[in-house]
Amino acid sequence: MADRNIILVGFMGTGKTSVAETLASRTGMSLLDMDTVIAERAGKSIPRIFAEDGEPAFREREHALAAELAQPAGLIVSTGGGIVTNPDNIHLLSQGGLVACLQATVDEILRRVGHDTGRPLLQTDDKRGKILALLQQRAHLYAAIPVQIDTNGQSIEQVAQQVLAAYHRS
Ligand code: S3P
Repeated sequence: MADRNIILVGFMGTGKTSVAETLASRTGMSLLDMDTVIAERAGKSIPRIFAEDGEPAFREREHALAAELAQPAGLIVSTGGGIVTNPDNIHLLSQGGLVACLQATVDEILRRVGHDTGRPLLQTDDKRGKILALLQQRAHLYAAIPVQIDTNGQSIEQVAQQVLAAYHRS
């Protein structure tokens, strides 16, 4: 049977993609970025899925992929920040391996994603306000994940080490 997956969850800009890349190169496990797979399958970018099909259609695609990942396959999985909005997704992903939640401060999130145009939910003038509102809606969903990693003041490498330690302990 394949190794258990390592699944990274967390708000936009908490470093999921960078940490997942580091974990993949450290462990030799394959990387699966859920947004990349969703965009490839849809034949269009995430902003275009949101604009042309709507957020609910994106969430359906995200949920279908989470269901496919509910078994160990030796993968490092980087999720989209809204994966927690359907708690079934976390339940499904947990069946495939260790789910770890990355946390960062609002300032750090803003610094990382403030100039990004690829995140449809943040295409607004008041980015800080939008981040705060989304965090408020989702805080309890992120907090419900047993493995929490505080990324503040830590390098990608250090965060990856912490995730690996939690994976080996679990
Ligand atoms: C989203 C986060 C994005 C992407 C989509 C929606 C969210 O992923 O899935 O734009 O709802 O928080 P990242 O967390 O990789 O930016």
